[in-house]
Amino acid sequence: MIDVRLEHVRPFVQDKKSIADLERRIANAKKALAEKKGPGSAFTGWLDLPARMREELDRIRSVAARQREKSDVLLVIGIGGSYLGARAALEALDAYFPKDDGPEVIFAGHNISGEYLEDLRDYLRHKRFSINVISKSGTTTEPAIAFRFFRRLLEETVGVGEARERIVVTTDAAKGALRELAQKEGYETFVIPDDVGGRYSFLTPVGLFPVAFGGHDIAAVIAGAENARKRYFANPESENPLDAYVLHRNALYAAGKKIELFVHYEPKFSHLAEWWKQLFGESEGKDGKGLFVANASFTTDLHSLGQYIQEGERHLFATVFSVKRPRRDAVIKEEKDDSDNLNYLAGMTVDTVNKKAMEGTLIAHESGNVPSIVIETEEMDARTFGHVIYFFELACALSGYVLGVNPFDQPGVEAYKRNMFALLGKKGFEDCARELEQRMKKTR
Ligand code: PA5
Repeated sequence: MIDVRLEHVRPFVQDKKSIADLERRIANAKKALAEKKGPGSAFTGWLDLPARMREELDRIRSVAARQREKSDVLLVIGIGGSYLGARAALEALDAYFPKDDGPEVIFAGHNISGEYLEDLRDYLRHKRFSINVISKSGTTTEPAIAFRFFRRLLEETVGVGEARERIVVTTDAAKGALRELAQKEGYETFVIPDDVGGRYSFLTPVGLFPVAFGGHDIAAVIAGAENARKRYFANPESENPLDAYVLHRNALYAAGKKIELFVHYEPKFSHLAEWWKQLFGESEGKDGKGLFVANASFTTDLHSLGQYIQEGERHLFATVFSVKRPRRDAVIKEEKDDSDNLNYLAGMTVDTVNKKAMEGTLIAHESGNVPSIVIETEEMDARTFGHVIYFFELACALSGYVLGVNPFDQPGVEAYKRNMFALLGKKGFEDCARELEQRMKKTR
């Protein structure tokens, strides 16, 4: 389902000794992951989610169907791993513009913007909506603020009793404020398993419930992921695209390419790129190590970042995600007077032009000392999406082990929260508030 093209990266990864060394480290990483002996192994339950989730699919589908009867809109409240996968899936699988009668899934709780909340409140005021609030810890500030806001709106609109019927909580089995609230109010709940961290949780109800509400085939998502598990992990083919991806990105990093740019040529993969960025950024960036990960949407960003990529500092490489056959395509028609000089394209599809732009860019970047690893799929559907998710999760975990970090924790994320709570006067953060006060005095 996934192929990798290496012709634009091979010229940069030639040293046989380092290749052999990386192959050995990848094999060791796979072993450590399989035997649950690597760092953070208590959070490797995502490896088996394709099999574990099969039993839950019926309930996810029936709760989604019930909410669709009640509501036209599902408001998904969550941040980081608790919303990016669902958003990526819906964007990749849906048409660009919503149908009038189709279900709509929108997102909140992934920022701290009062303007966003107020505008969304205006938008939802006259809609029939349900809420799916997602937080593994059940204590994250951004979604908690948004949930307080929209729970009240829902209660004001349909009454407390009916609001209860339209709120679905996805959280830890036992811990956290959200779990307590769900129990007290009797909300419908889904569990995020203990051994699955936020950014590895798309294949749990975190991702599957919003995707089911959006009308997509979640069994196909799981089948695609299972296929990836077999192909790259359980019974790996000897030369598979996953090993090639992990090897080349780590070889480039060792050779001084410190930035990996996830590039796509279809705007509907913008949130897949965001999901990928969070997955790798939080998993690898620690202990003073790790590729800095960013993303670009081409050809749009060829008119902004393109100059830098071609001629700026030579510290980056691209991972290009490409789908061979788009869901639909448009043909460029001939015009009699050819006043825009485009008749040389007449009869071609727009995607043909897009693919030529991609091939031209790959060659230009290679000449400009920017290697590209191309990851291709035949098409994009629910099955392929599940496969792609598992592919990158596994690639990320293996890369983390190759790098020598724990890819399943994120201690650095706490630093800003501590200061924010202290500045807001939250109980328990008094020492930190005093520290900040001292620092501010010194710099004034
Ligand atoms: O990958 C992670 O663990 C994080 O990105 C979390 O998903 C994010 O911080 C949200 O956390 P929670 O689901 O606890 O609200």
